[in-house]
Amino acid sequence: EPEEGQGARMMGQRFLWLLWAYTCCWSPGFCGKVVVWPTDASHWINLKVLLEELVLRGHEVTVLVPSINMLIDYRDTSSPFTFEVLQVPFTQETLDAIMEDFLNTWVNEFTNLSSWEVLWKMKKDLEVFTNMSKMTCDTLVLNPQLMAKLQQAKFDILIADPLYIGGELVAEILAIPFIYSFRFSIGNTAERLCGRLPSPPSYVPASMGRLMDRMHFMERLLILCNLQQTRLLPCVPTTLCETMGKAEMWLIRTYWDFEFPRPFLPNFEFVGGLHCQPHAFYGRACKMQYVYLNVPLFKVLWRYKGRKPETLGSNTRIYDWIPQNDLLGHPLTKAFITHGGTNGIYEAIYHGVPLVGIPMFADQHDNIAHMRAKGAAVELDFGTLKTQDLVDAVNTVINNSTYKENALRLSRIHHDQPMKPLDRAVFWIEFVMRHKGAKHLRPASHHLTWYQYHCLDVLAFLFTCAAIAVFILVKCCLFCCNKCGRITKKKKE
Ligand SMILES: *[C@@H]1O[C@H](CO)[C@@H](O)[C@H](O)[C@H]1NC(C)=O
Ligand SMILES: *[C@@H]1O[C@H](CO)[C@@H](O)[C@H](O)[C@H]1NC(C)=O
Ligand SMILES: *[C@@H]1O[C@H](CO)[C@@H](O)[C@H](O)[C@H]1NC(C)=O
Ligand SMILES: *[C@@H]1O[C@H](CO)[C@@H](O)[C@H](O)[C@H]1NC(C)=O
Repeated sequence: EPEEGQGARMMGQRFLWLLWAYTCCWSPGFCGKVVVWPTDASHWINLKVLLEELVLRGHEVTVLVPSINMLIDYRDTSSPFTFEVLQVPFTQETLDAIMEDFLNTWVNEFTNLSSWEVLWKMKKDLEVFTNMSKMTCDTLVLNPQLMAKLQQAKFDILIADPLYIGGELVAEILAIPFIYSFRFSIGNTAERLCGRLPSPPSYVPASMGRLMDRMHFMERLLILCNLQQTRLLPCVPTTLCETMGKAEMWLIRTYWDFEFPRPFLPNFEFVGGLHCQPHAFYGRACKMQYVYLNVPLFKVLWRYKGRKPETLGSNTRIYDWIPQNDLLGHPLTKAFITHGGTNGIYEAIYHGVPLVGIPMFADQHDNIAHMRAKGAAVELDFGTLKTQDLVDAVNTVINNSTYKENALRLSRIHHDQPMKPLDRAVFWIEFVMRHKGAKHLRPASHHLTWYQYHCLDVLAFLFTCAAIAVFILVKCCLFCCNKCGRITKKKKE
């Protein structure tokens, strides 16, 4: 990237964004004010696309961003968003150390631990993250000036990612409707218990179980036990869960190309792949294409930031950053070797590229399990991986055409929708702004206790009635038998 002209281009970009916004506002459309409580890292990459689209359609977007974060660049003057920076009381070093420890635990330690030990460690990690969310939340809600400023801004809606808790509380204080943009919670606790999403454990595998939708007895037993385990996690204390349950819409970042068929509620919309774009044949992507066409041997492009390994093959090129979506969309791309994050998986589905998955943490094992079940991926175990395993896996995915065919089938399913996922997500956000909520989609199950939800009170009543009936019947029979007995006795006498 040439340095000169960057500032001018940024200004130009910003100007274009504003121009777009004003043109939309002058049209008879509706311009809303959106406030955002984001989650960092890959969650932000996904959410940003949605927010940019909202700006394009004339809405004003304000992002509440912690001063210490990983990927949210609030100093970027070309950004179409207004940032409200929350001065959090922890340092970049603390955040980096926590992330390092978290990744190390998941990638290197979990393979050797029992499920209870894993759960215990997860509980500890979640406490650390919850603590950080709480500190971020405190910097906002305990700052009267800032809260007054937000009150005066009169936002129409708050968009939050419930992985970083706090957004729902801010919405409650500002008395505005909020919607969630979400991938998953551990064991789908938040969706099941707070969002009341029906999830029959017999065929809906809870997240992080690495299971498919067809499960044998032991797997179903495991799911039920694990679901009870995940209730112990600190992510859903009761009052928080109640507040989370007030979300008007849950925009889930998957779709039926990836997800197993399952029941859902009208206020759950599956918008997986909303960040995907047709590949661009310009700039860097174009140069890559050139490299591709000129080299007969398969070219391996690797996004890798560390020191260049000495044993690197001559056909492998290392990049700090690659335009992943454009590369996956390139017709010569044969396979995608990936850790299996949801964003990358969706880019592969969008462009119909088979996967070699080396899952590492969070939902990645699940994601690769889904793609394996759909026949579009080969999975490798990072803990035991040998060079030959990787070579074999890449060869399998490239030589055996079923993987490519399945990937293309998923891609066709993904593209054949009445409305694009991004449009659907925007539609529901605008809907909630226009109607000040979507209460008509909210199921009455939110008012039920767990035994009412499962009709256990009714069952108990019916069981009692049946028991009484049986009791009376038995008593009658005994009475009759006694009478008969006495009559026969009398006759014999
Ligand atoms: C996990 O266990 C395997 C063998 O059981 C061992 O080779 C490996 O070093 C262990 N890994 C860790 C991180 O302890
Ligand atoms: C949260 O983190 C801060 C700073 O690291 C620490 O002082 C505090 O005790 C933690 N609180 C809890 C509840 O863990
Ligand atoms: C599979 O493809 C690789 C090149 O990707 C080739 O070297 C190998 O011989 C092929 N294997 C089979 C069994 O066709
Ligand atoms: C290709 O892969 C599929 C799915 O794993 C397998 O059933 C099939 O036998 C493979 N075909 C060949 C020619 O190896």
